[in-house]
Amino acid sequence: MDMELEGYLRPPEYPMAPYPAKVVTLSTSAKLVIRQVDRDDVPILLEAIKPTLQVARDYYDIVGVRLYAELLGWSRYRVRDEFCLVGQIDGLLVGIVNSRMYSPEVGISLHTLAIERGLRIGAHLFASKMEHHIEYLEQEEVLITAESPIGFRRWMIEYGLQERDGQHELGGATPYALTRELYFAAKDRLVAGERPVPPELMAVAEKEIIIATEDDILEKILGAKRRVLQ
Ligand SMILES: CC(C)(COP(=O)(O)OP(=O)(O)OC[C@H]1O[C@@H](n2cnc3c(N)ncnc32)[C@H](O)[C@@H]1OP(=O)(O)O)[C@@H](O)C(=O)NCCC(=O)NCCS
Repeated sequence: MDMELEGYLRPPEYPMAPYPAKVVTLSTSAKLVIRQVDRDDVPILLEAIKPTLQVARDYYDIVGVRLYAELLGWSRYRVRDEFCLVGQIDGLLVGIVNSRMYSPEVGISLHTLAIERGLRIGAHLFASKMEHHIEYLEQEEVLITAESPIGFRRWMIEYGLQERDGQHELGGATPYALTRELYFAAKDRLVAGERPVPPELMAVAEKEIIIATEDDILEKILGAKRRVLQ
């Protein structure tokens, strides 16, 4: 690789605080470990996202393909100041969120994808990325948009986000802001989890990001509907 030319192609990097891992106990009593991953983990995440590209239902295809592009772009140093958190149960990947810093003050929420459904895993992951933007990256606000009605209910309505002028970088959609004030008003209700993660749980999560088979991923995101469609 011509590193001199590569230096011109790579966006600058702003120093970012790490996200401390946490564990959320779900309604089924399963332990959801939420932790930050790095560029080396991207290839396995892309494998898990691929099956979603064929699922139009609930906008999994649009979210999947955009998330795929953003993670690939980040791993190849073509997206600025991105971070990615994953949710794992017994090592199995059940959800992914990504986001980036636009400036030291403003965060841009990118995507939330739940592979296991019905347990608010997507909601917990979204809450975690807001926690990272506001509490660890110490930002003033996060600009968010929704590509799906479920997303709109989960983010705009549950957090009471403020509509803003201008365009979100996801296709120019209307941006909505989570300010520090809104985040702390919602925190007790929506941001769950305990730290530190017990070492044995963390060891399982870090040992391997296990991904379900394509068939299992489709079954999990489509549920009973999949059998009706076939
Ligand atoms: C949006 C999303 C992250 C929310 O994840 P979540 O909080 O874990 O919520 P679920 O997807 O499990 O459930 C959402 C709703 O769908 C329903 N649902 C649950 N399991 C389902 C299944 N297998 N099939 C269809 N619907 C299901 C639930 O009834 C739930 O309703 P509720 O809002 O009354 O609780 C997730 O739905 C997702 O990844 N969607 C596709 C991508 C997307 O839209 N991302 C957000 C873009 S703004």
